[in-house]
Amino acid sequence: MRTDTPVTIYRKDYTPPAFLVDTVDMGFDLDARKTLVATQFTVRRNPAARTTALVLHGRECPLVWIEVNGKRLKEGRDFKIEGEDLTIAEMPDTATVRVVTKLAPAKNSSLMGLYESRGNFFTQCEAEGFRRITWFPDRPDVMAKYTVMLRADRKAHPVLLSNGNLIESGKLPGGRHYAKWEDPFPKPSYLFALVAGKLAVLEDSIKTASGKKKLLQVYVEKQDLKRAQWAMDSLKASIRWDEQRFGLELDLERFMIVAVSDFNMGAMENKGLNIFNTSAVLAHKDTQTDDDFARVEAVVGHEYFHNWTGNRVTCRDWFQLTLKEGLTVFRDQEFSADMAAQAVLAAKGDARAAASARAVLRIGNVMDLRASQFVEDAGPMAHPIRPDSFQDIANFYTATVYEKGSEVIRMQHTLLGEEKFLKGMDLYFARHDGQAVTCDDFTAAMQDASGVDLTQFRRWYSQAGTPVVEAGGEYDAAAHTYTLTLKQHCAKVGVETLPGAPEKLPFHIPFAVGLIGPDGHDMPLQLSGSTTADTHTHATTLVLDFREAEQRFTFVNVPHAPLPSLLRGFSAPVTLSWDASDEQLAFQVAHDSDAFNRAEAMQRLGMRRLLKLTQRAAAGQPLEADAVLPELFAKILADDSLDAAFKTELLMLPPEVMIGEQMDELDATAIRAARVFLIKHIASALKKDLARTYRQLAGGKARAYSPDPVSAGRRALTNMVLAYWLDSGDADAVKAALAQYKQADNMTARLGALAALVNIVPDAAEKPLADFYKRYEDNALVIDKWFRLQASARSTRSRDVLKLARHKAFTLKNPNRMRALVFGFAMSNPAGFHAADGSGYAFWADTIEKLDRINPEIAARMARLMDRWRKLAPALRVQAEAALKRVAQLKGLSKPTAEVIGKSLSI
Ligand code: BES
Ligand code: ZN
Repeated sequence: MRTDTPVTIYRKDYTPPAFLVDTVDMGFDLDARKTLVATQFTVRRNPAARTTALVLHGRECPLVWIEVNGKRLKEGRDFKIEGEDLTIAEMPDTATVRVVTKLAPAKNSSLMGLYESRGNFFTQCEAEGFRRITWFPDRPDVMAKYTVMLRADRKAHPVLLSNGNLIESGKLPGGRHYAKWEDPFPKPSYLFALVAGKLAVLEDSIKTASGKKKLLQVYVEKQDLKRAQWAMDSLKASIRWDEQRFGLELDLERFMIVAVSDFNMGAMENKGLNIFNTSAVLAHKDTQTDDDFARVEAVVGHEYFHNWTGNRVTCRDWFQLTLKEGLTVFRDQEFSADMAAQAVLAAKGDARAAASARAVLRIGNVMDLRASQFVEDAGPMAHPIRPDSFQDIANFYTATVYEKGSEVIRMQHTLLGEEKFLKGMDLYFARHDGQAVTCDDFTAAMQDASGVDLTQFRRWYSQAGTPVVEAGGEYDAAAHTYTLTLKQHCAKVGVETLPGAPEKLPFHIPFAVGLIGPDGHDMPLQLSGSTTADTHTHATTLVLDFREAEQRFTFVNVPHAPLPSLLRGFSAPVTLSWDASDEQLAFQVAHDSDAFNRAEAMQRLGMRRLLKLTQRAAAGQPLEADAVLPELFAKILADDSLDAAFKTELLMLPPEVMIGEQMDELDATAIRAARVFLIKHIASALKKDLARTYRQLAGGKARAYSPDPVSAGRRALTNMVLAYWLDSGDADAVKAALAQYKQADNMTARLGALAALVNIVPDAAEKPLADFYKRYEDNALVIDKWFRLQASARSTRSRDVLKLARHKAFTLKNPNRMRALVFGFAMSNPAGFHAADGSGYAFWADTIEKLDRINPEIAARMARLMDRWRKLAPALRVQAEAALKRVAQLKGLSKPTAEVIGKSLSI
């Protein structure tokens, strides 16, 4: 697809559709090279319309014929096609439209619309893929009831699926067969799906809260059937959780999940027929890690939860994407946290351990937010969670819309509290079930149901950027008061820096604080001017309504000078600037009742040292470090009161991307040198402790594998201790790693040992690396891991990546494989990608050139790997700019890739 001048679409230009669609009947004659699609739909004039013509959309979608009320239309005379719009100016108020299109699924490498993967047919319609199947008003505010007839070869495609319920199936002449599906719920076209192929199925059923029995199915290729059980378990858990926490029931007779190897995203919530990337649905201890299990649970939950937040109530237009995605990410994060807490409570019977399990998830979510969203918010693609403009919606499935969007929902949950938040959800569904609505409709429901004024809060939807909150505290020993002064500031970013953008206004920030006394215990809190009765249920954590550019909060009856614990649980997506001494941070690590802030204090201690070391490395000065971290690490390692998973978080130094974001100029080589130095500094000081701890952890009696958070936490800690021990230079650690690799009875242990060896002692890794490939040659998802772990290893440079790209198992056509190598290199190995010779950028440009012709949406994601090029040191910046310009000048660059490159060069 070519576009010469990029067209920008604006949220303010929204107009309701001239026609609504009531019913859609589709017939597919499936064939890899020639599939005929016959679509019939009934339209009627929209009373709310401000325009009169019927507009249909199509993209790379050959039209065979089109008729209205039985009359064949002629291009030029009855309709015109401009870009992706087919406009019929003269229309009766109601009509039946029939369209026939001719597709070639085998030739469709974009993985949007109807495509073939490993001999099976799949569709992907969000956001604008339906227009690659037929000409239709492909916009989310057009909701209709669908009936779908599938016809295909009986042998090659025995399974025929679409949304809703199966109402008929049977044989046809010529070795073909058919199945007819009917979806009772009106839906936008982006939720349409079909699947046809050779698939095995895992079946189960569940009785919903109201006593109805529902059929649950997970379809996978036959050899993967043994890897489908966890997804089924996760689906059942998701159904229960949505009933219990939100009072939302499964509304269909059956719910299907289908796995596909070639898929652009993780998974898709098509009504009743969720389609999943194999990487987000298959899980077995022999081939998947604990992280994979957790991801499958989260993604299954996420897509299932969309059934209400996204499908029953959908988005009016794509600018509202966060309405469904931010909310559904919030729901899946809560689901994962509740599941973990519940499992830990069952295993340990102790509420503190459950809280720590929850904190581990929160720490992970915040880590992801900072590493992806904060970075995005500081670069050329920065945008508010509800963007005001875009060129291609495919580029706006971003960390901002998703992860920050989830934080914006979480803040509303914090401001309202669970009970009122649930009331708000109830009102949202009562008002909008079956509708396509806006973010404003959501906040209105929250405000109306709770009585909490969200007027100022709504700025989180319209302003981009990460606010910086500066905090300062003063204790008045005579008055027994403690005054906290908060200042907020948020610079213009991304599109906000273009001329004409409005000034930014202060955010309404729910700022959770506690005060820690000298004995390490939380003090009861009382704000000046309030009585204790006003304070929230947790009297030792208070959520301050921070609304002004600068605001003071005075706590009274404070008997001793406290240490403030700020932004507890990361109550708002801001950067906190707060001067604390090493001693104060170490005290916080030891005592804060907020587990999130304990880990946070540890991160600050690490970051402080890493930044200093990075500066020295950049200046060519010798590196040295103090004993603060080794001493703290030793204490943490020996502390039996800490759960393994939480301990692992405490022992993790800030990742390289986050160090880079703290610096004015990005020097990936210096960052790498600093971080490896600090790791080795800690590891060599603790060599003995590490050896002992590893032996304790690994030597415990063998237990049957279980992915529960307690067992997974133990394995995570074991792998981390092993890696530090290897970094201490102890030869025994190499032996231990090789033994762990060999004897492992699960992928977490095997991959943990292998990754640590490849990263830290590459010479010792050669044999196991070759063994790993041979062992798993036939399992694509495991071979992805093989590519990724090499791409992200410390010593890997572009020439190694180029060599891997020539490996017989490498292909750009499969997004999982491509991401394993290319993203594994560029994101997880910044020092390799940003090597001084610019070879990383040359590889980037060469790869985009090829990939953009195969799969534009994935190419555009890859293009974003250069988002932060302006931050590079001058010599690298020049090379990066040259690579970007080379891509910008390519002929026939796709629309999504052109948008990313264009913004990178101009903003
Ligand atoms: N609706 C999306 C899938 C999607 C994204 C389709 C972009 C088309 C374009 C789905 O609900 C989703 O968000 N999936 C995530 C996983 C989820 C756990 C955040 C994904 O695919 O990464
Ligand atoms: Zn989603």
